Amino acid sequence: MTRSSFLGYECSKCGTTYSAKELQTICQDSNCGRPLLAKYDLVKAKATLNLKSLKNRDASLWRYEEVLLVDQDDAVTLGEGFTPLLKARNLGAAAGFNSSTQPTILVKDESANPTGSFKARGLCMAISVMHKLGRDHAALPTAGNAGAAAAAYSARAGIKCHVAMPSDTPTAMMDEVRAYGADLYTVDGLIGDAATVIRKGVVEHDWFDLSTLKEPYRLEGKKTMGYELWEQLNGNLPQHILYPTGGGTGLIGMWKAFQELSEMGLFIGTLPKMYAVQSTGCAPIVDAFNAKTERSMPWENAATIAPGIRIPTPFADDLILSALHESNGGAIAVTDEEIIAAMKTVSTSEGIDVCPEGAATFAALSHLRKDGAISENDSVVLFNTGTGLKHPELR
Ligand SMILES: Cc1ncc(COP(=O)(O)O)c(C=O)c1O
Ligand SMILES: [Zn+2]
Repeated sequence: MTRSSFLGYECSKCGTTYSAKELQTICQDSNCGRPLLAKYDLVKAKATLNLKSLKNRDASLWRYEEVLLVDQDDAVTLGEGFTPLLKARNLGAAAGFNSSTQPTILVKDESANPTGSFKARGLCMAISVMHKLGRDHAALPTAGNAGAAAAAYSARAGIKCHVAMPSDTPTAMMDEVRAYGADLYTVDGLIGDAATVIRKGVVEHDWFDLSTLKEPYRLEGKKTMGYELWEQLNGNLPQHILYPTGGGTGLIGMWKAFQELSEMGLFIGTLPKMYAVQSTGCAPIVDAFNAKTERSMPWENAATIAPGIRIPTPFADDLILSALHESNGGAIAVTDEEIIAAMKTVSTSEGIDVCPEGAATFAALSHLRKDGAISENDSVVLFNTGTGLKHPELR
């Protein structure tokens, strides 16, 4: 049965439309070149998508088939999505809230995904579309987790995968890429240097470039985090979402999901305030948010123990910033020392094995309490974007 109500793509900047039938990259207008966004027939989607109809569907992100790019029958899947939304018992007090009156703090635990991170959501979608349209070489620069996920889904689909990453990426992520049979290139440098390796392969060997938001597919997988929050909260949304932001796919994706839910009349009310959490060692979005600029400035000498948020020049910075401003949210930078302390606090007080990026959101919670941005009656979702198991160096 065809449930997908996908229509085609539209440029996020100039509105030029692009066909659903061919693989797309970014806007081809030479004056534009900005990310494309998928469009759906939401009137059609809402005829079958609601809390009741979802009840009997698979416990994976493919349950939101109406608002995905391919039908479940065409999915290259490892069972990703529908991860736990855990009520924190002790994090409120640990963040300094009064122990009797605390906000509701929920942890969306993305470590439960295949390959141990939320990157599975985006890559299952991108590889599914590539597979459906018959392309057989995928390539991407990565901070680690996206490469592991791309390698796994490529193996599943019979697609050859080429991954480039900084040579100081945690070895567990390099091992994963190799284990799934992908080609691994390491560079002495940052993700931008890894991107140079990939661009060469794209030009010389016709690899398909899966760099963050240089294609419109990964975003559609990541947006399901927003649909899941809505469904797991029984049609409600939290007041605050704290998200560790590198390239921003998840943040932009969730914001898109919330617009779609509102447009379908499935959510009525105030949308969550979105907060980008970054490291003080690489905080281009925080700086741009505070300076109220439309784009960010490249971050010089980026350095942090949290590889996923060591992204000096996020390509879709304008989309991240507009989600933060439109939602009346914010941007917070935390130190590596705070991240390490937060990893320990979350693990020991909740039994959740957070990655450094996920721990950063807990560190940011203390900042927002002190600023008075989050108060006792609020509800907050912290995103644990991956497992701590890939980071023995931080134990
Ligand atoms: C564990 C983890 N958290 C957060 C991020 C940042 O994700 P996004 O590109 O959606 O901002 C990454 C990206 O590599 C990651 O691996
Ligand atoms: Zn355009």
